[in-house]
Amino acid sequence: MPAHLTARRSPPLSGRVRAPGDKSISHRALILGAMATGVTEIEGLLEGDDILATARAVEAFGATVERQGEGRCRVTGQGGFRQPAGVIDCGNAGTGVRLLMGAAAGYAVTTTFDGDASLRKRPMKRVTGPLAGMGARFDWQTMEDRLPVAVIGGGLTAIDYVQTVASAQIKSAILLAGLNAGGVTTVTEAEPSRDHTERMLTAFGVEVGVLPVGDGRRVSLQGGQCLTGTAVAVPGDPSSAAFPLAAGLIVPGSEVTVEGVMLNPLRTGLFETWREMGADLTVSNRRMAGGEEVGDVTARHSKLKGVIVPPERAASMIDEYPVLAATAAFADGATVMRGVGEMRVKESDRIALMAAGLTACGVRVEEEAEGFTVFGGPVRGGATVTTHGDHRIAMSHLVLGLAADQAVTVDEPAMIATSFPGFVELMSGLGADIAASE
Ligand code: S3P
Repeated sequence: MPAHLTARRSPPLSGRVRAPGDKSISHRALILGAMATGVTEIEGLLEGDDILATARAVEAFGATVERQGEGRCRVTGQGGFRQPAGVIDCGNAGTGVRLLMGAAAGYAVTTTFDGDASLRKRPMKRVTGPLAGMGARFDWQTMEDRLPVAVIGGGLTAIDYVQTVASAQIKSAILLAGLNAGGVTTVTEAEPSRDHTERMLTAFGVEVGVLPVGDGRRVSLQGGQCLTGTAVAVPGDPSSAAFPLAAGLIVPGSEVTVEGVMLNPLRTGLFETWREMGADLTVSNRRMAGGEEVGDVTARHSKLKGVIVPPERAASMIDEYPVLAATAAFADGATVMRGVGEMRVKESDRIALMAAGLTACGVRVEEEAEGFTVFGGPVRGGATVTTHGDHRIAMSHLVLGLAADQAVTVDEPAMIATSFPGFVELMSGLGADIAASE
């Protein structure tokens, strides 16, 4: 991998591409497959670094993972987790480590979890707090709330947990632990977060109750239920599709189609927001795949206008604010993004890094504690952006560079492979000028 990648102003982009497999669903397919009895056949699996770390982790817990071709893999579960031999290194993956901690807490095993420098900075008590309430024990190896941590599992009792943070990772960790806890585990969320765990558990034969409560949901399951291996077809990741689609919207004369994009309404807040900004975004060939609605999404170059993004939409597009901010730089007027404090505890502090990167590219940004505003106008570019190893910060700035006056360079490009291996090749195939640089 080169030291840097540089994106330059590009001619109109055109073509049809396939989105890589959804990262959230790929993690869950491997983890549930390992917890299940029997064989789980996965197709369309994302083969990004985050997922490869989860695949190694479930093998360490006793499952067999056999790669059978591109995106095709067979997981043979043992109906539970066995004692792993060494430390479970989840790399860069917050979803991987938090879901695995929840699953491991349910079994009588002691597991030390660790991750890369970015993952070691991210809060873990949001998950270990409720798991401790169920009876799991935690031994923080260096400091509280941060990896590495040893999880001592087994003997859990159910919890009735009311979430203060809208987070599918927390909800999922509790539900996975709840599968092996005595009693009925319930998670109540004020704003609904992505529901892939609930949907997939049902596909593995688990009875999951979902009730609407106000604007949110209450999800519950009875402990002691067994999972049975099944087939999982992973749909295309809307969070990854966002990058070629964003490029289509901002590079003059472009028309880009991404095929097989998951359209789960708890994931499509960005598309809704882009439409409100005046984006020419259309969906064709709607169909069901792997229990989710998918479609082919086409973005044509559009004259965008700034909007106020409703804060209650945040959970349905939390990973998409960086790329939204990149497109907002080309809009007429201000795009106001509030209620997104969670962005500060992702792979990096994404509010701070987007504000810094866009400002370095000549875009006016106002940063707040829990949000930021991007003022559209001419985008100069001409900067080298520090990504702190965050894949989405890198891809957002590269997309910006395709329509900026001067080139935009990002550091640590190897990290893009955590969620979007083949990003540069896919974008180049559409006509984007993205190349290695020193
Ligand atoms: C994810 C949930 C989100 C998201 C992450 C994937 C998941 O995190 O940012 O990339 O697969 O459950 P939170 O649930 O913590 O908001």
